[in-house]
Amino acid sequence: MADDFRLTPSGWSSFYDAVAQRPPHDTLLKALALFEGGPDRRRFAIDLGCGEGRDAREMLRRGWCVLAIDRESEAIRRLLARTPDHQRERLHTQVAAFEVLADLPACDLVNASYSLPFCAPGQFPALWRMIVAAIRPRGRFAGNLFGVRDGWADDATMTFHTRAQTEALLSGFKVEWLLEEERDGHTATGEPKHWHVFHIVAFKR
Ligand SMILES: C[S@@+](CC[C@H](N)C(=O)[O-])C[C@H]1O[C@@H](n2cnc3c(N)ncnc32)[C@H](O)[C@@H]1O
Repeated sequence: MADDFRLTPSGWSSFYDAVAQRPPHDTLLKALALFEGGPDRRRFAIDLGCGEGRDAREMLRRGWCVLAIDRESEAIRRLLARTPDHQRERLHTQVAAFEVLADLPACDLVNASYSLPFCAPGQFPALWRMIVAAIRPRGRFAGNLFGVRDGWADDATMTFHTRAQTEALLSGFKVEWLLEEERDGHTATGEPKHWHVFHIVAFKR
């Protein structure tokens, strides 16, 4: 929930420092719980905008294979540095911006915690199509979108959605959790921010 989540779009280093000890996001934990009891096989997730790896680490800990993608090489460096040797063969990484990704491999889960809003608006539809195509039937999406009343909504480099637009993006999914949160809070580095966030867990039919 945004309550314990504060970030800043400028200078990811201080953000990575600020969240390094935080637990995985609720959206990921809900999605992982929903996979439990399913077929017992090794699962594969793509973590888009993985940051320093608070979600990727949890998936690795639970035995998942993870492709972690982030535009910042520092994010990938931090994730690799904190990944124990015995988990390394299940972790693949890619330094890439969403806007230049050509495709994504087929996967069981796309996790994107507080990262998709940083995609340029013109490229978001192609990115979302890529995400939907990559998730196998009976797979899931977990992550967040920012709403149009978010405090950063006047930033033309970022992408914001209405609730109706969010629901339309999820039309090929069974929505398992969709929480719209709007409140005043702070960024990771302590600046005041108005949060308007959609928390999403969705199952691909
Ligand atoms: C708010 S952080 C979230 C990081 C991580 N998911 C977490 O919850 O801690 C957003 C991450 O998205 C990455 N990012 C921002 N814009 C990006 C883009 N256009 N393409 C790829 N990654 C991007 C940033 O480098 C940053 O690591």
